[in-house]
Amino acid sequence: MSEIHPAVTAPVIRRAVVTGAAGFIGSHLAHALLQAGATVIGVDRRGPAGDDSSAANLSVLHGREGYIPVTADLLDCAIDPLLVDADVVFHLAGVPGVRPSWGGQFSEYVRSNILATQRVMDAATRMHVPRLVVASSSSVYGVTSGGPSVESDRPRPASPYAVTKLAEEQLCLAHAARAACPTSVIALRYFTVYGPRQRPDMFIHRALDAALTGRSLRLYGDGHQRRDFTFIDDAVAATIAAGTAPNNTSIVNIGGGTNASLIDVINIVQSLAGREIDVRSDTARSGDVLSTRADTRLAEAALGWRATTDLPSGMRAQMQALAHSAYPAAA
Ligand code: NAD
Ligand code: UGA
Repeated sequence: MSEIHPAVTAPVIRRAVVTGAAGFIGSHLAHALLQAGATVIGVDRRGPAGDDSSAANLSVLHGREGYIPVTADLLDCAIDPLLVDADVVFHLAGVPGVRPSWGGQFSEYVRSNILATQRVMDAATRMHVPRLVVASSSSVYGVTSGGPSVESDRPRPASPYAVTKLAEEQLCLAHAARAACPTSVIALRYFTVYGPRQRPDMFIHRALDAALTGRSLRLYGDGHQRRDFTFIDDAVAATIAAGTAPNNTSIVNIGGGTNASLIDVINIVQSLAGREIDVRSDTARSGDVLSTRADTRLAEAALGWRATTDLPSGMRAQMQALAHSAYPAAA
């Protein structure tokens, strides 16, 4: 975890399954659950030798007391045995990223975000797991008028990725709405999460990487896109709260309250690093929305949660972690 630790609601979770545990958000979540004393079954198709980012993410989990690693693909593994006696399934496994979803990889998005989710949800109900928390996305809102998005707004997904995330959350909710379904579902619509070990394809990681290495940063469009950037520890605290929240909420926005532009991010990076970065203009990408902004009143009411980390503080924590892990000579 990073050096910033906002108050996390004390979970009463004894045993949790985290899918996507080798990923950015899943590894932080699994780590926080272990710190709170839970047993965690971490499932991911990437193992410690998968690639640089899965190795770094899993290095904080493997060997820790209470952690049970499972390297398996949710598209074909036996899921029921993994869920025995679980209080919560946190379903974070999936193929993320807006821009690559247009091309030939679309079938991967469908397979992991929809077909695998159907298998996970089927297993959760068969195994009578009381709660499933599923990772949805701000991208389901698509192009908005610029005002904060409320959970009841009509979704207008603007990319194939966003369509699969909308399908994923609705699929889980459809299962949960069946008569006598033993599993209640909360779908969290995360807004652009950042922090230590952020996925290397994401903007803040690339901007910090540019500052630390001198590599150039490609800016898609004019840089006036705005995002409601959400710090990882805040996202994790909300996710744990959703594991035990009362069973009367289904979809909740998780936004950091920032709504900063990419140019703002570049300015923060330059001030943190004390140097200019080499920014190269590139064409705007299809499916990239101009602005995301979360209305988080429901998160406050239903989860007792609000974000506590401002963008410069969170980015400083991410830069320090990146400097120490990837570029120790620059730290
Ligand atoms: P990530 O790529 O770092 O983690 C996802 C993990 O899921 C990976 O380790 C991958 O190996 C695993 N996975 C994918 N398909 C699988 C399968 N079929 N079987 C087993 N494991 C599989 O992504 P992340 O940024 O940590 O995002 C986690 C979740 O949150 C995703 O569902 C994503 O769509 C959602 N989300 C992320 C953000 C964000 O800003 N990072 C925002 C909104 C929503
Ligand atoms: C992020 C995650 O990547 C998605 O998985 C997630 O679903 C989504 O948040 C969400 O909130 O739901 P995105 O907002 O596109 O998606 O975040 P970044 O990948 O960090 O991109 C932010 C902006 O920076 C985009 O406008 C993108 O075009 C731009 N960008 C990104 C660049 O200009 N250059 C780059 O090298 C990378």
